[in-house]
Amino acid sequence: MKAALLGHGTIGVGVDRIVKEIPGIEIVRVLALETDEEIIGRHTFSADDILGDPEIDTVIEVMGGIHPAWEFISRAMEAGKHVVTANKAVVAAYYRELLALQKKHGVAFRCTAAVGGGIPWLVNLSREKQGDRITKIGGIMNGTTNYILSRMDLEGIAFSDALLDAQKLGYAEKDPSADIDGDDVRRKLSISASVAYDCFVDEQMIPTAGIRSVLPEDLRAAREKGCVLKLAAFSERLEAGISACVAPFFVPRERLLASVPANVNLISLTAEHAGELCFSGQGAGRYPTAKNVVLDLLDIVSGVRCFYTEAAAPAAVDNGSTPTAWYFRTVSEDFPEDLVSERSGSSAVTKPLSVLEAFRLLDELRKKDPAVFMAGILS
Ligand code: HSE
Repeated sequence: MKAALLGHGTIGVGVDRIVKEIPGIEIVRVLALETDEEIIGRHTFSADDILGDPEIDTVIEVMGGIHPAWEFISRAMEAGKHVVTANKAVVAAYYRELLALQKKHGVAFRCTAAVGGGIPWLVNLSREKQGDRITKIGGIMNGTTNYILSRMDLEGIAFSDALLDAQKLGYAEKDPSADIDGDDVRRKLSISASVAYDCFVDEQMIPTAGIRSVLPEDLRAAREKGCVLKLAAFSERLEAGISACVAPFFVPRERLLASVPANVNLISLTAEHAGELCFSGQGAGRYPTAKNVVLDLLDIVSGVRCFYTEAAAPAAVDNGSTPTAWYFRTVSEDFPEDLVSERSGSSAVTKPLSVLEAFRLLDELRKKDPAVFMAGILS
């Protein structure tokens, strides 16, 4: 395999270093904003040097962001090159277009590292579908926020200090808003649900709340209920369509999800025959994520020429069922009293509400209090 890297940041450097030890794969060109001694002689500032080079059979996109990543990936597939990416933003945004290009050109398109960092999640999700039917997926899918919440909970450090450390460790996205506002998880859930249920789950249809406004008192409130605060994603196959959401949750201490530390992710699937299967490992960071990219390259070397599903019909998202209690903290005086089951200072626990109702309430409260915090309470 003669491959080229688009991007030489946290993941790109990791991929380049791991590949050096693997016979049969050579990274011959590297697109990067600046050169350094690791890529001297292979460096280019121009994607054309890679996309127009017939000797290069595989393009590894690890630059992140939607543009120009989409343009480069689509040009690569149109030129008959295999593509591996770790970029969930571009995969979620152009899911159907990427599948269509992959099919049309008969090339491999793999993005295992895009969901769960170093965890072999998407490959196993697509494997488990064979002879079975996935009914649920979900869990902790973001290393940065799990790292922040774990350190705030265990060490009492400030949100901003924990975020800074997550950035230094290479866990966070270039713009960490995507992590703390839940958009990174929303994209990962969109891709995972689309693969799991063989359909297209539009990321815009997934209600999403993050942890930007979390305070130590929210972690304390979770502790008082025998829970740990986690940012999690859940999705279920319904008779017609699917349910899906991303939000902070109070997770009972005895549940496996509550014990997930630091940048670790724990993603699970439930299938009719297999039951529940959990996949856990480092969800972010240079070498775990780079390793997953390299495994995709090795799959291509061994003959894989596909994506994880061929189907991409749009699915309806319905979050109107399965009510649960929700925790809200807000300075707004407009909290509807008829929905309250418990109150303590500026926080309230609601009577059971569906995800749809809880997010409607969150949107209303946000108009008066942009720092409102909401978390579902799992039992
Ligand atoms: N920013 C992401 C995370 C990187 O923290 O999980 C891995 O997708």
